Amino acid sequence: MKINVLYSEEKIQAKIKELAEEMNKFYNGEEVYVICALKGAIMFAVDLVKHLNMPLKMEFIRLSSYNGGTKSSGKVNAVDISLPDLNDKNVLIVEDIVDTGLTAKFLLDFLNCNFHTKSTKFCSLLDKKITRQTDVEPDYYGFEADDKFLVGYGLDYDGYYRNLTYIGYIEK
Ligand code: IMP
Ligand code: MG
Repeated sequence: MKINVLYSEEKIQAKIKELAEEMNKFYNGEEVYVICALKGAIMFAVDLVKHLNMPLKMEFIRLSSYNGGTKSSGKVNAVDISLPDLNDKNVLIVEDIVDTGLTAKFLLDFLNCNFHTKSTKFCSLLDKKITRQTDVEPDYYGFEADDKFLVGYGLDYDGYYRNLTYIGYIEK
């Protein structure tokens, strides 16, 4: 299977540094809870936190909305959403990609219903604005993506390709 590279490792890493700089300015040394949405955001979250300079804690939650295919099922399944007390905390959600926006909306609603955070920011490496079905917009995003099914750097097709250092699409 051939993968066409859209975002090289160098391009991704440079973008992550840019995003981290923006965040370092915004948080200005205040403590942050970084919430990584597994499994897709694992690579991004790990590389992003290396460039953040405030005291931070990492939390991991697991959601799923794909059942092995290339289209959202339209239903978000909270596989594991156990979180500490986030009242009065700065919360930064880290996602791999916002597509329909259903996952992002689910997460933001969940936080809203359960906590009065000090601040809640949503960061996604990729933003497929064109396929959005909700009114959520990430506060930070790396790249605006076309309506193609992407793999690599955490993004999978049927569980594969997460380990690639770059992001691309599978040539049919
Ligand atoms: P949404 O709920 O439709 O916004 O989709 C969110 C989740 O679907 C993301 O966190 C990804 O895990 C997955 N996803 C969306 N688009 C892609 C893609 O192009 N490749 C791989 N996974 C994707
Ligand atoms: Mg994801």
